[in-house]
Amino acid sequence: MKAAVYYENGGPEVLRYEDVPDPECPAGWVVIDVEAVSLEGGDLIYRWGSPPPHTPYVVGYQAAGVICQVGEGVSDLEVGQRVTTIFPNGSHAEKRAVLAAVAFPVPDGLSIEEASTIPIPFGTAGDCLFEYGKLQAGETVLVQAGASGVGLAAVQLAKRAGATVFATSSSDEKLERLRDFGLDHGVNYATQDVVAKVMEITGGNGIDVIVDGVGGDVTQASLRMSGYRGRVCMYGNVSRDSFSYKYDLDMMRGNRAIYGVALSALEEQPRLKPILQQLIEDVADGSLRAVVDKTFPLSEAAAAHAYVESRQSFGRVVLIP
Ligand SMILES: NC(=O)c1ccc[n+]([C@@H]2O[C@H](COP(=O)([O-])OP(=O)(O)OC[C@H]3O[C@@H](n4cnc5c(N)ncnc54)[C@H](OP(=O)(O)O)[C@@H]3O)[C@@H](O)[C@H]2O)c1
Repeated sequence: MKAAVYYENGGPEVLRYEDVPDPECPAGWVVIDVEAVSLEGGDLIYRWGSPPPHTPYVVGYQAAGVICQVGEGVSDLEVGQRVTTIFPNGSHAEKRAVLAAVAFPVPDGLSIEEASTIPIPFGTAGDCLFEYGKLQAGETVLVQAGASGVGLAAVQLAKRAGATVFATSSSDEKLERLRDFGLDHGVNYATQDVVAKVMEITGGNGIDVIVDGVGGDVTQASLRMSGYRGRVCMYGNVSRDSFSYKYDLDMMRGNRAIYGVALSALEEQPRLKPILQQLIEDVADGSLRAVVDKTFPLSEAAAAHAYVESRQSFGRVVLIP
């Protein structure tokens, strides 16, 4: 099969389009013919900085397609069924093997491109807001990088839960588009002091739940904007900045918390399975929206990675094998 692979870490140019062996289908697994690969923020982080465990390495968390092989012992999935899948690697390829437990059926009527983009962003956003953020109707939510894949999901889920929604972006145009997804207050971090603006809008109270996948200095700013009993949910590091946070007396006096949130934690998978399937159904029935910003052929994976890194994307970029 063809795949987009890399041999060493680096920029988008390290990706090569090559022949690699088809994946095997062990007991408990399924293999899919991939029809859409969702480019996840983590795919870029891996390519950039996580040494490949073997070469050539097929990166990628999330892809959807049609099951072409079912491993021994799998009784709830069948050949020919459309599924969307999450796994730590292997999405950037014509075929992908995953544990059956992380292959989610795609409802009729939902496009395979949209389906490929749902479980990780919506699941991560949901865990930040509800499992760890304990969001209540009437509270305030700030989504750092609101137009990112996870950000766009968080804006919608927070609005649906009855929150007042704030988000940041480097682009006024993206903030304007976010209004259609539930944004109440947009702050352009390229032209405005985010902390000062948010404190002004909230009358100095700060924010109840902050969803932050940017990391570094941005997360330090999130801590400064969190209100009394505020919850900062830090799920990523798109900035690639180092982590070292100042948890000071202000945090203690304000009964504030910072949570690390990892959807990929194996321990969480049984709890997450019905939640992720429901989020897929919610997109299928139109109560949530998955945004496919642009598609590229799999053979142009390097160009697709470069496009996402240029910060032009709104929602998700999808590769088509
Ligand atoms: N823990 C988990 O389970 C989990 C799950 C999913 C993702 N993640 C992680 O979360 C992070 C975000 O993932 P994602 O898929 O939502 O990202 P994404 O969709 O690729 O987000 C890209 C956007 O982030 C914004 N951004 C803000 N500051 C940036 C900076 N310094 N450099 C580059 N972009 C910046 C840009 O939008 P603006 O210009 O509009 O700000 C950019 O368009 C990644 O680090 C990923 O690994 C973790």
